[in-house]
Amino acid sequence: MTILVTGGAGFIGSNFVLDWLAHVGEPVVNLDALTYAGNLQNLASLEGNARHVFVQGDICDRPLVDRLLEEHQPRALLHFAAESHVDRSILGPAAFMRTNVEGTFTLLEAARAHWGRLPAAEKAGFRFHHVSTDEVYGSLAPDAPAFTEDHPYEPNSPYSASKAASDHMVRAWFHTYGMPVVTTNCSNNYGPYHFPEKLIPLMIVNALAGKPLPIYGDGQNVRDWLYVRDHCSAIRAVLEGGRLGETYNIGGWNEKTNLEIVHTICGLLDELKPDPAGPYSRLITYVKDRPGHDRRYAIDARKIERELGWRPAETFDTGIRKTVQWYLANGDWVANVQSGAYRDWVSAQYGEPA
Ligand code: NAD
Ligand code: TYD
Repeated sequence: MTILVTGGAGFIGSNFVLDWLAHVGEPVVNLDALTYAGNLQNLASLEGNARHVFVQGDICDRPLVDRLLEEHQPRALLHFAAESHVDRSILGPAAFMRTNVEGTFTLLEAARAHWGRLPAAEKAGFRFHHVSTDEVYGSLAPDAPAFTEDHPYEPNSPYSASKAASDHMVRAWFHTYGMPVVTTNCSNNYGPYHFPEKLIPLMIVNALAGKPLPIYGDGQNVRDWLYVRDHCSAIRAVLEGGRLGETYNIGGWNEKTNLEIVHTICGLLDELKPDPAGPYSRLITYVKDRPGHDRRYAIDARKIERELGWRPAETFDTGIRKTVQWYLANGDWVANVQSGAYRDWVSAQYGEPA
């Protein structure tokens, strides 16, 4: 038995591949284009491990996807590959439509052809697991109930619109073709190997470099935060026991404002790596808001708990401490991802000299 993972060199995908091989041990074929967000260093511990087959390639490449399905006969396809950063989607939406919409379409069609040819027993066991986001539901008022799986889709950014489109296709492939699909919509992940363009790793690496900590708008936007390894265990639970055609929301039960997050990070750094120049919170800087910035996301994760018995293992306090400690211990990884392409992004987004 084998699984095919897409985007397994990115933040969540690489954590998933490591977690899967540690907990399940079933071989993984990992298809990833290695965009700026893909990093084989995340998988360095798997070097020489015959249970991990890495293939550099594009999910929009139908002949390649067909070949991988034919050659490896995976029992499941777990689809993580995406363009994932909202700010990048605002500056350049085209790549999001290509990978997130066209790429998901390509995978669904390749998987449908493969699944259609399987003998009955294998056909019944096959899964297409689509990894998506809570951002498809849009923005919540401060006192509104958290997103359930029945919340209407109201995507507000090019990123969330592209993910919503992909979710709709997955749903339609179930209803029209009977494809054995399941979709998970999770909240903001954080943890090891998180690319430092997103809030938490950006704040950690900027603080350590003595650079400004840019807070968009008033810093009162709220996100729910999910430790990435909890997300991995949730995906394993859904793959094993999730009902076909269903969606499951995955969250950490950790709603926080951005400002709270940044103060927590500064406090941990003050404790673990004090800066003689003073508390890290001195670096907090308010910058112009993100256009169309969603005010609040919150996940009601009771369905996955009720049906599959899953709950996150980490609290925010334990998860963020582990995360800050990981970044302190992995300065080489940070230095490596801060390549030329990364510096170009920082200057385009924050107006700093490259
Ligand atoms: P990421 O940006 O860190 O990684 C994406 C990976 O996909 C990279 O390795 C990249 O090389 C690969 N990729 C991009 N385009 C590709 C293409 N055309 N063909 C093949 N590979 C390609 O993303 P992430 O944070 O790990 O997110 C993984 C999934 O989880 C995405 O589908 C994202 O929408 C979803 N998600 C992420 C979060 C989060 O907080 N990071 C929250 C909710 C949902
Ligand atoms: P991000 O990590 O980009 O995730 P998402 O937009 O997908 O939720 O941003 C998380 C929150 O942090 C979001 O409200 C935007 C805010 N933010 C900042 O205030 N400053 C920053 O430099 C970044 C990258 C994000």
